Amino acid sequence: MIPGPTNVPPRILEASYKPIIDHRGPEFEELYGELLENLKYFFQANYDVIPFTASGTGAVESIVSNTINPGDKVLVPIYGNFTNRVKDVVEVYGGKVVTVDIPQREAVTPEKVEEALQKEKVKMVFIVFNETSTGVAVRRMREIAKISHDHGALVAVDAISGLGGDELKVGEWEIDFCAAASQKCLAAPPGVSMVSVSERGWDVVKSTKAKSHYFDFKLYKKFFLERRQTPFTPVVQIFMAVNEALKFLREEGIENRIKRHRICAEAFYRAYEAMGLKCYAKREFRSNTVTVFEVPSGLKDSEIRRIMREKHNIYISGGMAELKGKIIRVGSMGIVNQSIVITTINALECTLKELGYDVELGSGVSEASKVFLLA
Ligand SMILES: Cc1ncc(COP(=O)(O)O)c(C=O)c1O
Repeated sequence: MIPGPTNVPPRILEASYKPIIDHRGPEFEELYGELLENLKYFFQANYDVIPFTASGTGAVESIVSNTINPGDKVLVPIYGNFTNRVKDVVEVYGGKVVTVDIPQREAVTPEKVEEALQKEKVKMVFIVFNETSTGVAVRRMREIAKISHDHGALVAVDAISGLGGDELKVGEWEIDFCAAASQKCLAAPPGVSMVSVSERGWDVVKSTKAKSHYFDFKLYKKFFLERRQTPFTPVVQIFMAVNEALKFLREEGIENRIKRHRICAEAFYRAYEAMGLKCYAKREFRSNTVTVFEVPSGLKDSEIRRIMREKHNIYISGGMAELKGKIIRVGSMGIVNQSIVITTINALECTLKELGYDVELGSGVSEASKVFLLA
């Protein structure tokens, strides 16, 4: 129950228990062709989607290295660790970051983007869709994309912890670059990340010299078109697992998967409130995939996590950077379902009770059950 990597269902793990195949042979070409088609479904876009042998950060970095020249301005609204990381990446490539500080417990809104773009013209607006460090999600991404385009800026989104678990219509909303990763809502092992590129995005990529050889989008496109291969040795086994995860996603249907995530997250939030815990994110920005509550005063987050792990075999996460010790983050993504949510809440109630916190056993479970019953 950490916010990724998530539990991986047996059928996805089993898909990778195959002999290693030649990445320049026909079996790989077939797998790669299928994978690229399935990725379009995941991104809900008829855009090229490029998978990389790299974790999510590689995908974020690839967007910057293919589009940003030294001195180019990039608007990065800041509301947590991963928004700050985007800022760091842009700066590594010599981009000039224009920041907008978003109040704690919130994510960026179209109004904040509009205000910033009226003051400063930028080449790109880079948004973290679901800020995993605080459990806030951008709720009006479609409007943000439109405003950014109206101001002549490209739109890039880090949707690593949100894609597949929350509504993000990459094609319909014309997101120019969107980054995702295997180990979050897809419930595949870590090791692969992906970036979708719109037509508008390709125009800029084609006229920009890539600053990274490994992540050069043009090279990936050329290798696919000419040979149905990747330029460099791919992590073949994880490609197999991701392809199986995408088949699983197609069977469930993306709308159903998003709904399942929404219901599970809602059950967590209701349970926290019933247990007297304070949810960290403001209600309208609460994430569908990472549920966060404040550590009750007098308790230590490390003890809560230790008892959850040692007695209940459930792993949950603490806060990052300045939120370390102050919040608990419970991932609710991938194969999350009613029984997993209820088991986690039950374990949390018992853990908190053991630590002396005044909670009525069953209060969280009862509220969460109602969410599932009415869903
Ligand atoms: C929103 C977001 N961006 C970027 C990353 C970095 O991804 P990775 O650790 O796969 O490199 C994460 C990881 O949790 C994330 O949640």
